[in-house]
Amino acid sequence: MTTTLDTPGTAGPLPAADTGWLGVWPASARPAADGDVSVAGVSLAEAADRFGTPLYLLDEEEVRGRCRAYRAAFPGADVLYAAKAFISRAMVRWIEEEGLGLDVCSAGELLLAFAAGFPAERIVLHGNAKSPEDLRTAVRLGVGRIVVDSASEIARIAAIVPAGSRQRVLVRVVPGIAAGGHAKVRTGTDDQKFGLSLTDGSAQHAIGRILGQPALELMGVHCHIGSQITSVKPYVAAVRRMVGLLARVHEQHGVELPELDLGGGHGIAYRPGEPELDVPALAARVRAELAEGCARAGLAVPRLTVEPGRAVVGPAGVALYRVLAVKRTGERVFVAVDGGMSDNPRPALYGVRYAPRLIGRTCAAEQAEVTVVGRHCEAGDVLAESVSLPSDVRPGDLLAVPAAGAYHLSMASGYNLVGRPPVVAVRDGAARTLVRRESLEDMSRRDVGL
Ligand code: LLP
Repeated sequence: MTTTLDTPGTAGPLPAADTGWLGVWPASARPAADGDVSVAGVSLAEAADRFGTPLYLLDEEEVRGRCRAYRAAFPGADVLYAAKAFISRAMVRWIEEEGLGLDVCSAGELLLAFAAGFPAERIVLHGNAKSPEDLRTAVRLGVGRIVVDSASEIARIAAIVPAGSRQRVLVRVVPGIAAGGHAKVRTGTDDQKFGLSLTDGSAQHAIGRILGQPALELMGVHCHIGSQITSVKPYVAAVRRMVGLLARVHEQHGVELPELDLGGGHGIAYRPGEPELDVPALAARVRAELAEGCARAGLAVPRLTVEPGRAVVGPAGVALYRVLAVKRTGERVFVAVDGGMSDNPRPALYGVRYAPRLIGRTCAAEQAEVTVVGRHCEAGDVLAESVSLPSDVRPGDLLAVPAAGAYHLSMASGYNLVGRPPVVAVRDGAARTLVRRESLEDMSRRDVGL
């Protein structure tokens, strides 16, 4: 998916100056002559003053546009947004209005979506270790599909389905394909905790057992090979293996399963020049492979589902921090900001690199290489290693980090009790709070013992 620089109704023409950095910003981002940047017509410097920092801005139109682009790329398929990337009531509403389904992986995500009015039949529940509460809530609310991730789950789900009804399920299969931006997010091979193996026969075995279970209706198979994948190839390979499985199920059991869920994992660029997954190309290649494979195996083409999370919301988010200190030590310059690993654990967890930008003032100073660090009490609290910022960067300056919409706040922690930042939606020149800042009072309320 590409961002276009001429989104109607958002802003005027771009200045001729260097604008390559805008490639990883929301399409509505516009630099101003005074060094400020606006997103969806909202000045970031003003937003920082009004809402405080650290602050997460979410461009509503960017999210909606990405949903629409997915639906256009995958006509006739189901597109589920993976709520783990970021969930809030407004986000759930946007996803619903844009016609996507939802992938959740806990009773918490499910209940939030349900409370926001999301239709349960468009929700799929995942999880390698679903709690009794997860399963009970899913069955009670009537989710569309539960994805069976281990053999023991088959009887557990069957046991709670009300008499006379059937719960629709998918089986999560490990197709034996290595893909993904980091070892911690590779889920397509047997050496990790998710799914049932194709190689050792556990997937086939589980399918047989589900087919013999009257309380369950097996709708199809699912795989999620990894995350932050920027090439179409591993998906095509996954389709081939999954069609092979569908063919074996047909031979063995005489049933043609009607659905194939290919999971998510679609990669985005965090820094200018980085690759991102070409979603229309993915759709075309997957569709072609599916049609050919099914024709060869004499199967009807199953209904396809994809589950993007990051690629829907990641590029729509911008994090704003205020510089608190600048320290020059030997060879290095540390620029310390008022957030860090409690609002964005991704650099520490996966070594991800970001492209922060100084905004809110003009600077004639030359660029210098710096390390942007957080405010937390450990040396590994680095937000952006070896980045270029004006050499006169100083306390009070604002830093904006693009591509901050996915897996930041959803993975945020209470470390050092600094409180999680608010989320503010921007659209048509207006800003509104979606999730307020976590206060000390919020945190103290849970501390009930003395
Ligand atoms: N479907 C399933 C079953 C998943 O497990 C995931 C992500 C997705 C869909 C959505 O994947 P996406 O399109 O967002 O890549 N915290 C890591 C990413 C973990 C992804 C976990 N599962 C990160 O910050 O990179």
